[in-house]
Amino acid sequence: MAPDSYTLAGTDVSIPTLGVGTWAWGDSSTWGMGSYDSSLTEETIRQAWDASIDAGVSLFDTAEVYGSGESERIIGRLMAADPERAAKVVLATKFMPSPWKLNVRGALLTALRSSVERLGVPKVGLYQIHGPISLRSHAALAEALAGAHQAGLVDAVGVSNYSVKETRSMAGELTKRGLRLATNQIEFSLLRRVPETSGLLATCAELGVVPLAYSPIGQGRLTGKYSAASPPPGKRGFSAHPMEVVDKVVAELRAIGDKHGGRLPSQVALNWIIAKGAVPIPGAKNRQQAEENAGALGWSIDGDDLERLDRVALSGIRSLQNRVWQHG
Ligand SMILES: NC(=O)c1ccc[n+]([C@@H]2O[C@H](COP(=O)([O-])OP(=O)(O)OC[C@H]3O[C@@H](n4cnc5c(N)ncnc54)[C@H](OP(=O)(O)O)[C@@H]3O)[C@@H](O)[C@H]2O)c1
Repeated sequence: MAPDSYTLAGTDVSIPTLGVGTWAWGDSSTWGMGSYDSSLTEETIRQAWDASIDAGVSLFDTAEVYGSGESERIIGRLMAADPERAAKVVLATKFMPSPWKLNVRGALLTALRSSVERLGVPKVGLYQIHGPISLRSHAALAEALAGAHQAGLVDAVGVSNYSVKETRSMAGELTKRGLRLATNQIEFSLLRRVPETSGLLATCAELGVVPLAYSPIGQGRLTGKYSAASPPPGKRGFSAHPMEVVDKVVAELRAIGDKHGGRLPSQVALNWIIAKGAVPIPGAKNRQQAEENAGALGWSIDGDDLERLDRVALSGIRSLQNRVWQHG
């Protein structure tokens, strides 16, 4: 049975078992804001923001690279417009460890200062290294995170897309500097179960690291609105299995949702992740999506249904090329 919330290691910051991903906010190339998806506006985003917080889904994940900072700027405007809701929010953002950022301590502090300025907050709840590919060592990255913590700009620190070995190594380097690794943000869903079968989730549990599950509804593919006959628009490169294969997973989600009083495929897919001890952070573009996603809370699927879903889940091991550098 999953708890109602998690406390980020080394802090008293509490996060719900479900969050919101905000990559689509301000991004045109993958998610269509200002291009193919004309229904996505700052007003629909505000409604998603309000509905999520009102449902207790108060963890928001962004990154310096989302919409080249626009996702953070939009969140900053939402925070400023509604201090009462803002007070309930935990903000998580990310540092991109690009190869040219060789002075990583200075680069990370500069990037973080820009992020908090865009977000309009004195510090963030969680600061994550966006990916494991860096010219600098884990020791250097941990040192940089420690500098951010000493500067009072972050509560918790985390990583993203780290393997078992990388997670252990970074946790060790942070411990040497008096910090704890709080989170590892990974692609985990019924279209990519490999973090469970590879032992990554077990390693996180052992180290007290909360796994944050990104693309948890397969970039919309697990909602049932896309199919082989009607594939998703845009680039959406994560979990891009042939839709004929995805359709079979969605059929099982639908059957299990029907057993539970008409729960939606997306809600069952999110519930499966929560049951595995990870915190899904589905993207939401509007009020309806936010409310539907929040409907994954407050109920749970039982052991038989978990087994049924385990059987249809796809491993989702990426090609080496994708593993080397793919992020969102
Ligand atoms: N660390 C990393 O490298 C990394 C990588 C990827 C993502 N992330 C994070 O994880 C978050 C979530 O991942 P994601 O955005 O890639 O994929 P996702 O959460 O699986 O899918 C989100 C998309 O699904 C559709 N959707 C959401 N709720 C829906 C609902 N209830 N019914 C129907 N459609 C719905 C929306 O797109 P449409 O309406 O256009 O279909 C939405 O933008 C991101 O926002 C980001 O914060 C991190």
